Formats: sequence, C-alpha cells, structure tokens
Amino acid sequence: MIYQIQTFFFICLIVVFTTSQGYVLAENKPTGLQQRILDGLTTTIFKHAYLVSIRKRFSEISAYEHYCSGSIYSANIILTTASCVRNTNPSNIKVITGTSYSSGAAQDGAMHTVREVALHTNDSIDIALLHLGTNITLNGFNTKAISLAKELPKTGKMGVVAGWGKNTEIGTISENLREINVPTMDQAACKAYYFWHSITDTEVCAGYVNGGVDACQGDAGSPLLVDGKVIGIVSWGYGCGRKYNPGVYTNVVRLVDWIEQNAAVTNEILM
Ligand code: ARG
Repeated sequence: MIYQIQTFFFICLIVVFTTSQGYVLAENKPTGLQQRILDGLTTTIFKHAYLVSIRKRFSEISAYEHYCSGSIYSANIILTTASCVRNTNPSNIKVITGTSYSSGAAQDGAMHTVREVALHTNDSIDIALLHLGTNITLNGFNTKAISLAKELPKTGKMGVVAGWGKNTEIGTISENLREINVPTMDQAACKAYYFWHSITDTEVCAGYVNGGVDACQGDAGSPLLVDGKVIGIVSWGYGCGRKYNPGVYTNVVRLVDWIEQNAAVTNEILM
C-alpha cells in the first residue's frame, strides 16, 4: 500500500515536472521571426517619405557610406541621434532624401550638405539636429516632414521603424529599406531587463520580451512612429533582437521642447 502511494506521488511529480518544463520550453521556443533582425518586410521610401539616409566618409579621400538614418523635421532640419554625428566634421556628412536604397548606386534621391550639428548639452541624451546647407523640396511623395507626438502611447501600442540597418547582428547594411513593427514596452520592465545600464526617462523601449524583431546597427537615428508621429529615435540595444534586450529609443516626447527650441535657434543663427 505504502509502495503504491509512493508510486502514485512519484508519477504525479513526473507529470507536473514534464508538463511545466514543456510549458517553459514552448514559451522560449524561437519563432521564425527570431532568427532575423529588422525582419520586416522590404518597403519603399514612398511609405516612409520622412526618412533620410545619413552618409559619412571616414576620411577626405573615402566614399560617403550609409551609417545612420534621420527624419525630416522641416525643409532644412534633420532629427537624428547624437551618437550618429558626435565628433564629426559636418563636411564629412551628407544627407540623402527620397531614396529606398542605402548605396549611391541607384542614383536617385537628392543630396544635401550639413551646415551645422546641434547636440544636446547633456551627453547622455542621444539626440541631435542637423541643419542642412540646402532646403529639401517637400513633395509629399518621397519627401515629407514628420510630426512629433506630444504624449507617449499606452504600453504595448505598436510602432513602426524603417531603416537600412543590419539584418542580423553579424550582417551587413541592407541595400533595400526595411520596416518592422514593435510594441512599446513598459518602462519598469525595460529598466529591469537593462538593470546593468540604467534606462533614463529620456529613453523609451520597444520590442518583444523574447526578442526577434528589432532595429540593429545602421538603424540609429530612425524614428519610431506610433500613429504616424515620432515617439522615439533608434539609439541602442544589447545586440539586436536578443531575448530580454529590447531596443532602446531616445524618448522624443520628453524632448519636444528641446527640438522646437533648437530648431528655431539654429535657424536664427544661420539666417
Ligand atoms: N547604435 C546603433 C546603430 O549603430 C543602433 C542600435 C540599435 N540596436 C537595437 N538593438 N535596437 O545604428
């Protein structure tokens, strides 16, 4: 009898153990999406006409290559991150509008020079404005200005990010523009995942707990749009699309005043 009871409990234990394991495994199982970054779909500039490719040359004699993105704030001002343009002479940066491609090969789009770079005085706030040498023709077709959101959406609301960044952590810059859809993440949860790197109030996270869909190197400066308005700018992440390592974006909603003031100030100085 004792023996039978023991066997019964033992079997129960095995059942509980295997089913709970099974559950955990199922939850962790990578979906098809997890193997690729910016999994999304190839898209075009006509759908993301606010987006520009920022090209940099690393010396006077090298070619300008895509390395970051930005968004059109107004005909002569581009919104991007400070990490994209810090310590760079404006003559080594070009902004290409109206193209779906990251290389110059397609020969489409329009090239603009940069006259001045405005960085936030607080080094830990990853935001910058590029004041262009020539005005962008805003045709509403492959070039248009974005608007900034005044409030953060509810956690979990889907946002869209387009860019030419790497398709995998070890990949290369994408020739075609791609886009992903990612939900905004709870701030406390994001702080907990990145406990080793304090997430500030001028940052906001987006992505899935299990990773899979994310921006990656070469996407910095791209805006995160919710309902067509900018709420964030691709800033950093630990790897790309890794589990428990969501994408971290500069929180534009907190910086609307800075953007508006600096856009106006730079304009005045350059008049
Ligand atoms: N700083 C990166 C860049 O060079 C952006 C990385 C974003 N990473 C991420 N996992 N969301 O473009």
